[in-house]
Amino acid sequence: MEFYDVIETRRSVRGYLDKPVPADSLAKISRAVQLAPTACNRQPFRLFLFRDPAMRAAICAKVPFPWLSEAPVIAVLAGDASSAWERPDGGSIVDVDASIVMEHFVLAATAEGLGTCWICCYRRDEVDAAAGIAAPWRSVAISPLGFGKQNACRPRNVKPVDELVKVIG
Ligand SMILES: Cc1cc2nc3c(=O)[nH]c(=O)nc-3n(C[C@H](O)[C@H](O)[C@H](O)COP(=O)(O)O)c2cc1C
Repeated sequence: MEFYDVIETRRSVRGYLDKPVPADSLAKISRAVQLAPTACNRQPFRLFLFRDPAMRAAICAKVPFPWLSEAPVIAVLAGDASSAWERPDGGSIVDVDASIVMEHFVLAATAEGLGTCWICCYRRDEVDAAAGIAAPWRSVAISPLGFGKQNACRPRNVKPVDELVKVIG
């Protein structure tokens, strides 16, 4: 898929078909994740791709979105704040690094014809315990991964481009 088609096609998909993710797609998405830039190249992240039904059920039990359980894969992205680069005025960059990684995941999945949806509305202590993620790692976001159902996206609602992007000069 052409790059701008990927950008136009990507949506938050909140409904999934009962169909497995092809191994080839998983490999390509993993490569896109591997190539994500991180500050000072620290790579302070791990992406866990849960296919195991029991693990997925344990994670879904802690997330307030019933459609998550439809997905054949649940991705949990974890970051390690202690190994991420520190900003000069203090504070770990881990959330920025992890967000770039997650968006590589999302866009690569879109290019593979697969749906995703960023999820941050959950209690991290509960989901991390269910996913077996322990210190220094802490989840940053979750996403389903799978073939989306028809009509599983809300109507697009974006602000005017000249409100969001200011070209100066
Ligand atoms: C950081 C972040 C957190 C999000 N968390 C959730 C979430 O917890 N649950 C959910 O249903 N959607 C979540 N979303 C999806 C947004 O609602 C969605 O991206 C936005 O409404 C725009 O729609 P689109 O992605 O289909 O273009 C999140 C998106 C981002 C970027």
